[in-house]
Amino acid sequence: MGNVTVIGAQWGDEGKGKVIDWLADRADVVVRFQGGNNAGHTIVVGNSTYKFALLPSGVVQGKLSIIGNGVVVDPWALLEEIERVRAQGLSITPDVLVLADNACLVLPMHRDLDVAREARAGAGKIGTTGRGIGPAYEDKVGRRAIRFCDLGDEAALGAKIERLLAHHAPLRRGLGLPEVTSAGLQTLLAQVAPKVAPFLQPAWRVLNSAITDGRCVLFEGAQATMLDVDHGTYPFVTSSNTVAGQAATGAGAGPQAAGYVLGIVKAYTTRVGEGPFPCELTDEIGERLGVRGHEFGTNTGRKRRCGWFDAVLVRQSVAISGIKGVVLTKLDVLDGFETLKVCTGYRLGDRVLDYLPASLHEQASVEPIYEELPGWKENTHGVRLWSGLPPAAQSYVRRIEALIGARVDVVTTSPEREDIILIRDPFAGGF
Ligand code: GDP
Ligand code: IMO
Ligand code: MG
Repeated sequence: MGNVTVIGAQWGDEGKGKVIDWLADRADVVVRFQGGNNAGHTIVVGNSTYKFALLPSGVVQGKLSIIGNGVVVDPWALLEEIERVRAQGLSITPDVLVLADNACLVLPMHRDLDVAREARAGAGKIGTTGRGIGPAYEDKVGRRAIRFCDLGDEAALGAKIERLLAHHAPLRRGLGLPEVTSAGLQTLLAQVAPKVAPFLQPAWRVLNSAITDGRCVLFEGAQATMLDVDHGTYPFVTSSNTVAGQAATGAGAGPQAAGYVLGIVKAYTTRVGEGPFPCELTDEIGERLGVRGHEFGTNTGRKRRCGWFDAVLVRQSVAISGIKGVVLTKLDVLDGFETLKVCTGYRLGDRVLDYLPASLHEQASVEPIYEELPGWKENTHGVRLWSGLPPAAQSYVRRIEALIGARVDVVTTSPEREDIILIRDPFAGGF
């Protein structure tokens, strides 16, 4: 069996967590390679619901779970999450969880900056999760971040903190935020260091030795292609690369390690936060999708914006991430609609586009061109066989497949782990 990279193909919350948990049964290692605790992945197994922000979803199945170098990690949030899922009965030990020693920390000052900037931006805000993710990545590429490997060397840490504060002090003053002292930050870090130390390892070595031993690796994407800092609806994006190409960089393996790229695609479209959304429905249909789909953020509880399926966006994601197959999630949410619409192109003035242009102004100006498809009255919630889907639902899936240019390997029909229609096994090769 080869490796699989799971990527969100819209604006996040496609159901990546559920799919990872289901695939993890046959994987040996699960790796997070970007993002931070802005992610919210929900997994439902029987009566238990697990919500992960930082922990790879493989921990539910007790698989070796790696938080790679590409992730920015808030150590306090991580420790809280570990405690929370331990209370639910999961075992999180250094045998199960590895944290890359070269990963960068998200600090309280990053959260302050994120929240203060958003508050100042007023109508121009991004609608971030407020977790400090953007400012933490800024410090990473600015070469002044604190990394986990720095925590063990208190003598050298002082100078690193000074360097970081030299950048942040004027920013904080400008935003009216209280001063952070070097001694205060050093004390905070000294308290947290021994708690995370047992999990620290050169994660790239652990991963590469697993690969050499022929182990099967699942790369768990967070966010999604349209939130990618290069390819998304910039500046209404997250601050990391979320596309499949990042799996290798953010984990420390060669590009071939990514294996089969599996795109996770919701049967309609949602987005949390601000930014262009050509197929958004602000009418009762959008409301109905939100209610039926329980579209409230796993992480922040915010109401998600909803709209019809946008094949243009997903086709673009298929190209940018090299998606070979797709899991179409939440098909059950579409039960009971008389007709369904699917966006097949955009109108921009007198032009017709088959892609989302890069310019924000154009992204905000495009009008969706819809194709109408018949809906179905039957209940598909929990259906596990293709033959159990009504013909109109089968046609909807097949039409999406043709429009996006990738096979639908799997359809999901409820939050439950086993409520899955397997059409083609993503582990079965073909790459
Ligand atoms: P992620 O961020 O991509 O992991 O997705 P989230 O967990 O944030 O959001 C997906 C939500 O949809 C979660 O509450 C899942 O339990 C739920 N979900 C996943 N698959 C299905 C499905 O096929 N049908 C329904 N009704 N809900 C699903
Ligand atoms: P998962 O992994 C949906 C969105 C935020 C905001 C933008 C920037 O659960 O799919 P950030 O805090 O990252 O600087 O916010 O990105 N966003 C997500 N939306 N799902 C996510 O993760 C998201 N992570 C960030 O709402 O619009
Ligand atoms: Mg989510």
